Amino acid sequence: MRKRQVKKAVIPAAGLGTRFLPATKAIPKEMLPIVDIPTVQYIVQEAVDSGIEEILIITNSNKHCMENHFDRSYELESRLVQSGKTEEYDMICNIANMANIYYVRQKEPKGLGHAILCAKSFIGDEPFAVMLGDDVVENHGGKPALKQLLEVYDDVQASVVGVQKVPEEDISKYGIVEPVNGKISVGRRVQLSSMVEKPKKEEAPGNLAVLGRYVLTPEIFDYLENQEPGAGGEIQLTDSIKKLMISQAVYAYDFEGTRYDVGDKFGFIKATIEYALEREELKASLHKYLKDLVQTLDT
Ligand code: G1P
Repeated sequence: MRKRQVKKAVIPAAGLGTRFLPATKAIPKEMLPIVDIPTVQYIVQEAVDSGIEEILIITNSNKHCMENHFDRSYELESRLVQSGKTEEYDMICNIANMANIYYVRQKEPKGLGHAILCAKSFIGDEPFAVMLGDDVVENHGGKPALKQLLEVYDDVQASVVGVQKVPEEDISKYGIVEPVNGKISVGRRVQLSSMVEKPKKEEAPGNLAVLGRYVLTPEIFDYLENQEPGAGGEIQLTDSIKKLMISQAVYAYDFEGTRYDVGDKFGFIKATIEYALEREELKASLHKYLKDLVQTLDT
């Protein structure tokens, strides 16, 4: 069988960002910065670092500024040149050259599965990656999360979802996978027999949750096209992946790296602090500030 390469990724970014109102009333949640970089730029960087060449972002009518962010900005560029700010100039130009980025609008907020279906003609008959903007993953010097999944895909030539264990109280927030008992399990990889979207913890098949990274075969679109609404009344990607398992193997891979739920306020604060602690220009003063702050909290 000819091995198929994954060169395209889809980033669904048409959500309303209700968990971050009022900040997201006029600004897309994907543009909220962790330190000084919008969250969507971390996702695009991970895609590029994983070997992805073409990216489709699924947007809605409120997301123009995301397109501006990845575009050239001639006025800003010429002002930076005039004032001799070459470092800033290079940074701005590099963002516009990160990847070939395309956009399509999801006209109604009908759920993640429906958003991915909007990518059908862009993807065609190729395997592709899906990266959710709420899940930012840092794997300090190691392979990016998506790259890890792509290596599994390369091996199995079948769909792979990225998972990690979550605490019991968080199970109902995620798609939860059910591994095939005792079957193909190589290292961190396991074949799946089922998957369920946002189950109650008593009904969940475990605590391995899908955390925003997928590599899918194009046959997923056959199921998405006919997918009935599921959890929350939305067309769920999880439900179509479960159907895909009937005709093809689907794997889960417990990827390495710290994942931040930046769609959640606490997750966002954690990401901001930890990313800032990695920055040369901030780490010493932030470290000292946090140490002093902890002392005031203890008393
Ligand atoms: C989506 C998926 C869910 C997955 C989660 C990861 O849910 O539907 O299966 O576990 O992302 O962040 P959402 O958080 O969009 O409700």
